[in-house]
Amino acid sequence: MDGNGRWAKKAGKKRFAGHTRGAETVSEIVEEAARKKIKFLTLFAFSTENWNRPKKEVNLLMKLLVSSLKKEFSRLNKNKIKLCSVGDLNSLPNSVKDELMFVIEKTKKNKKMVLTLALNYGAKEEIIEAVKTISNKVKNSIISPEKVDESTIISHLYTRNLPPVDLLIRTSGEERISNFLLWHIAYAELYFTKTLWPDFKKEDFQKALINYKKRERRFGKTSEQII
Ligand code: IPE
Ligand code: MG
Repeated sequence: MDGNGRWAKKAGKKRFAGHTRGAETVSEIVEEAARKKIKFLTLFAFSTENWNRPKKEVNLLMKLLVSSLKKEFSRLNKNKIKLCSVGDLNSLPNSVKDELMFVIEKTKKNKKMVLTLALNYGAKEEIIEAVKTISNKVKNSIISPEKVDESTIISHLYTRNLPPVDLLIRTSGEERISNFLLWHIAYAELYFTKTLWPDFKKEDFQKALINYKKRERRFGKTSEQII
């Protein structure tokens, strides 16, 4: 979800107005994804690198997160959406952790869609943590090194409960991954749009899905093999 700041600048507003508008987009896209029967939607809400922003912006983003969780809670339940998070929650303010844990607990039985918020998330850090844990298990003879395979790695990632990514959308014209879900995007289809996140409406999301549907996913095979 990129482009909140640029949206605000264009509108002659403070950056935070872009984030507030961006939160409204989240609400619309989450509902549309569930309506489209998407089973997993993962949103990059706050990266490990986002701490480097001005303190005031970080604080406001944290506050916005708490108020959005409070506001969206009943809508998540109404749409049978289960909330999860990935990332290192330890360094988030208590207000965020508490609200997040509350909504996660209260939505855990919902079955229609899993909405995962990536918070204080960085894919490199995620892989480092997994390697550390696996190394310790090898050291203590819990895992034998020859047995280390894809599933060993996956089961030690924050994203262990997520399937491989089918489609990755980035808004605002930036064409990069920025340390998001590196393992799970190995075979993802990438979709970049110039639309800024606050302007990204359900029609834009539908357009991305239609574009995705037209792609031939070969996973290394030939075209003839998959028809
Ligand atoms: C995305 O919008 C929101 C977060 C990263 C929290 P930006 O804040 O990155 O918007 P730009 O890139 O400055 O336009
Ligand atoms: Mg940005």
